[in-house]
Amino acid sequence: MYSQVESMARRIPFLLLCILFNLAAAPFSLSYAGDTLTPGQPLLGATGATLISDGGSFELGFFNPPGSSNRYVGIWFRNVSQQNVVWVANRNRPITDTSGLLSLTANGTLVVSDNSSAVLWNSSAPALASPVAQLLDNGNLVVREEGDVGSSNYAWQSFDFPTDRLLPGMKLGWNLTSRRNRILTAWASTNDPAEGNYTFGIDLRGDPQIFGWVGTRQYMRFGPWNGLVFSGSPEMMSSYLLDYSVVIDGEQVVFSYTVLDPSLIRQTVINPTSGAIEVLLWTTESQSWSTRTEFPRDNCDGTISRCGPYALCSSDWPRCKCLPGFHPRNQNDWELLVNTSGGCERNTELDCHNNTDGFIPQSNVKLPDTSASTVDWSMESLDDCQTSCLNNCSCTAYARANISASGRGCILWFTPLTDIKLFNSETGQDLFVRVAAADLKEAMESSSSGKGRRGVIIVVSAVATLTFLTLVACCIWKRKKTKYSIREETEEETINLPSFDFAAIVQATDNFSSFNKLGEGGFGPVYKGRLKEREIAVKRLSKTSDQGADEFKNEVVSIAELQHRNLVRLLGYCIEANERMLIYEYMPNGSLDKFLFDKVKARSLDWKSRYNIILGIARGLLYLHHDSILRIIHRDLKASNILLDEDMNPKISDFGMAKIFNGNETIRRTQRVVGTYGYMSPEYIKTGAYSVKSDVFSFGVLILEIITGKKNIGFYISTEYLNLLEQVWTLWKEDRVLEAVDESMGAVCVAEVLKCINIGLLCVQEQSEDRPIMPLIVSFLGNETTQLLEPKRPGFVVPSDSSKTNLSSYEHCLLPSNHLSITILEGR
Ligand SMILES: *[C@@H]1O[C@H](CO)[C@@H](O)[C@H](O)[C@H]1NC(C)=O
Ligand SMILES: *[C@@H]1O[C@H](CO)[C@@H](O)[C@H](O)[C@H]1NC(C)=O
Ligand SMILES: *[C@@H]1O[C@H](CO)[C@@H](O)[C@H](O)[C@H]1NC(C)=O
Ligand SMILES: *[C@@H]1O[C@H](CO)[C@@H](O)[C@H](O)[C@H]1NC(C)=O
Repeated sequence: MYSQVESMARRIPFLLLCILFNLAAAPFSLSYAGDTLTPGQPLLGATGATLISDGGSFELGFFNPPGSSNRYVGIWFRNVSQQNVVWVANRNRPITDTSGLLSLTANGTLVVSDNSSAVLWNSSAPALASPVAQLLDNGNLVVREEGDVGSSNYAWQSFDFPTDRLLPGMKLGWNLTSRRNRILTAWASTNDPAEGNYTFGIDLRGDPQIFGWVGTRQYMRFGPWNGLVFSGSPEMMSSYLLDYSVVIDGEQVVFSYTVLDPSLIRQTVINPTSGAIEVLLWTTESQSWSTRTEFPRDNCDGTISRCGPYALCSSDWPRCKCLPGFHPRNQNDWELLVNTSGGCERNTELDCHNNTDGFIPQSNVKLPDTSASTVDWSMESLDDCQTSCLNNCSCTAYARANISASGRGCILWFTPLTDIKLFNSETGQDLFVRVAAADLKEAMESSSSGKGRRGVIIVVSAVATLTFLTLVACCIWKRKKTKYSIREETEEETINLPSFDFAAIVQATDNFSSFNKLGEGGFGPVYKGRLKEREIAVKRLSKTSDQGADEFKNEVVSIAELQHRNLVRLLGYCIEANERMLIYEYMPNGSLDKFLFDKVKARSLDWKSRYNIILGIARGLLYLHHDSILRIIHRDLKASNILLDEDMNPKISDFGMAKIFNGNETIRRTQRVVGTYGYMSPEYIKTGAYSVKSDVFSFGVLILEIITGKKNIGFYISTEYLNLLEQVWTLWKEDRVLEAVDESMGAVCVAEVLKCINIGLLCVQEQSEDRPIMPLIVSFLGNETTQLLEPKRPGFVVPSDSSKTNLSSYEHCLLPSNHLSITILEGR
C-alpha cells in the first residue's frame, strides 16, 4: 500500500506497541487480528493496522494516495501493486493528518472519524444486537450479526456502495424493492478518490440500458442487454474465463460478472480522465494490468447519436450513412462533415392507415436507443413483433429483445431511431425499420444491384450461379424436348434434376417478399421459401449477371448425382421468361463462417458441436474423395462453403470449382489457379497442381479456424504472425497451443482439442506427401487412442523460399475480400 513503506520510519514506536498488543497474532505483521472488526475494537489509522481477508486477497485499512497527504479508509488488492484500491469509505471527506479511526458501533454502524472525533463517513444500516464487520475474500466488507456466520444475510455491505469499479460478484443496477441503485462514480483524478464527473449505471427507462454520464449528460451508451451481450459492446462477452450476466425481473435490474478461474484478478473500472470503461486483467508476469476490453472503442461509441436520427454510424468510411429509405436532412452538412447530427428524414412519409408500409432489415447493428421503446417479453416470434409494430402508426422499428437461443421478447420503437452503430464485422443484431411502400421497393432494388451487407445469410456462392447458368444454357436447348432432364451432350449423360414451376416458386417465397430474403450475394438475392411443407432456399439470379462457363458442366453432373448427409442438396431449377433460379434444400443456420467469426454467435458453438462439424466435414470429404461413384476434388473448401442444418450438422456446398478425377488419376495441373486465398495449398498456388491433398490442406485450415475462431488470413495484419497457421504452429512448438483456442467455446475437452489441432497441423504440412488422406483422418477423429505423428512445418502459403517464385504475383491475392473466390496466376 502506498503509505505503509513511506511512513514506516515514523511508525517504529507504534510497531513496538502493536507487537506487544498482538502477540497472539502474527508477531511481525502490521495487520490487525484477522478479518473482523467488533465494537470496542476499532482500527487505528496511526498504527497502520489493517484487516486481511481470509484467503489473503484483500486488505482493508488506511491509505494515502501517491503524492497526497489525505488519508482514506479503503479496501485494496493485496497482491497487486498498482490501481489496487477497489473501494473507499470516506472518499469525499479525507482525514487530513495521520490519525483516523474506523470503528463499529454497538448497534452495527461503521464509522470513520478523525482525531477530533468528527464523523467523516458512516454506514447506514438497521441496528443489530451483536454486530461484527468482516472483510470477505471477494473484497466485500460486510456487517452482520455475530452468529450469522456464512449466511449472506448482511445488514450492510460495501458491494452495495461501489466506488469506481466493479469486482466479480458485485452488482451494478437497481434493487426495485428498496429502489436502491448501485452506480459507479469515477475518482476525481488518478490520485484523488473524491467523486469525479463520470458515472456509470443502468437506466431503467424502456428496455434497460447501461449508460455513462458526465454530470447529468449521457456520453456513452452500451445499449440494452440482448441475452448474450450489451447490444453496443459485443466484445464484452462471456467466455470460459468470465461470465457476464444481467437479471431483469420484478425485483431487480442488475448487471454482474463472475470469474470462472479464481486465480485471475479482474476488475472493471471507470478511467477518471477519459470516462472510458476498462475491463482489466492483472498479469503476474509483467506485474501490470492489461486492458481486455474497453468502451468506447471508436468515434461512434464516443458520442451518443453522432449521426443524428435514422442514421448509421460506422467506424469505417463514410462515418455517417442514412438508413435505407431515408436521406440526409442537410446534404451539405453531411458531405462536409460539418454537422452530422442533423440526421436523416424519410424519402416518403409512412402511409399507415392503408396498410402498405413495410420493413427493411438492417443487420449487424447496435440497436437504437431503447429509452423510449417498449418491450413485450412474452412475445415469441418475430412475426408477432412485426404485426404489433404495423398495428401502431407511430411504431418506427422493431427487433428481438433477446437473441440467445432460448430468447424471446420484442422491442418496439415509437420515436425517431437514434444512436445506431453499424458494426464492420458480423456482430450486432437485426433491426427492422419501418418505411413506406415506395421506399421499400427502391431499397430492395438498390440492394440487389449493390453488394449489400447481410446478416442472416445462406451463402450460395458465385459458383452456384455459374452452375446454374450452365444449367440454363442446357435447359434452354433442351426445353422443348423434356422439362425434367438435362442432357449433357459431350458427356452423354442424363441428369435428373427437377424443374420447378415459376408460379409455385412465387407462391413459396411469398412473391419474393423481403421478409423471406435470406441474403444477398454478388449475383442476386437468396430467398427462403416453403414448397409443399418443405423449406427451400431459392437463388434468384440478378438479370445483370452474365457469368457463363461450360467448364462447370461436370459439376452439374456431380452435384445432382451425389448424395451424402454432409453434402448440400440441389433440388432443382426454375426458368421462366428471363427469370432463372436454383433451388436448394434450406439450411436454417446459414454458413459456418457466420458463426465462427462472429464473437456473439460463436458462443453458440461449443466444443461438442465444433467437433461434430469437423467430423461431418471430414465424412463429406471422405465421400467425395473416396467413397462416391466419382472421385471429386472440391477445390474451394472454406468456412463460408460449409452450411449448417437445423441441428448444426455441416453440409459441404458449392461444387462449382470441383473437378472429377478418372479412375486412377491422382494429380492434375491447371494454368488457372482458382480458389480462396488462405485455404489454397502451397503446391497449388506455386504450380497449379491439385489433388486430394490440396483439399486436405484446406480442410486442415478449416479445422484450425474452427478451433481458434479466427480466419487464417485477415486477422493478423498488425501482429507478429503472418497468418493463423504460423501462429498455431509457433504455439504448438512452444507447448502453448491451448492459448490459441477460441474462448467463446466455453469448457472444452482438452485431449480432443489437442488431437484436432494435431490433425489440423498434419493436414497443412508444407509437403503434400506428408499430409494424411481422408480415410486416415476420419479414423483419427473417430479413434480415442490414436497415436498421432508430430506435424512438420506447415505451408504458410506465402512462399518461404522466394527465389523459386515471383512474390509479386501473390500480391493481388491479399486485396480481394476473402469471401470471394479468386483467380491468381492467370496463364503463364
Ligand atoms: C446506532 O448508534 C448510533 C450512535 O452510536 C446512532 O447515531 C445511530 O442512529 C444508531 N443506528 C440505529 C439504526 O439505531
Ligand atoms: C432488495 O432490497 C431489500 C431491502 O433492502 C432486500 O430485502 C432484498 O433482498 C433486495 N433484493 C434483491 C434482489 O437483492
Ligand atoms: C391511401 O391510399 C389512397 C389511394 O390509394 C390515397 O389517396 C391516400 O392518400 C392514402 N392514405 C394515406 C394516409 O396516405
Ligand atoms: C401506439 O403506441 C404508443 C406507445 O406505446 C401508445 O402510446 C399509443 O397509444 C399506441 N397507439 C395505438 C393506436 O395503439
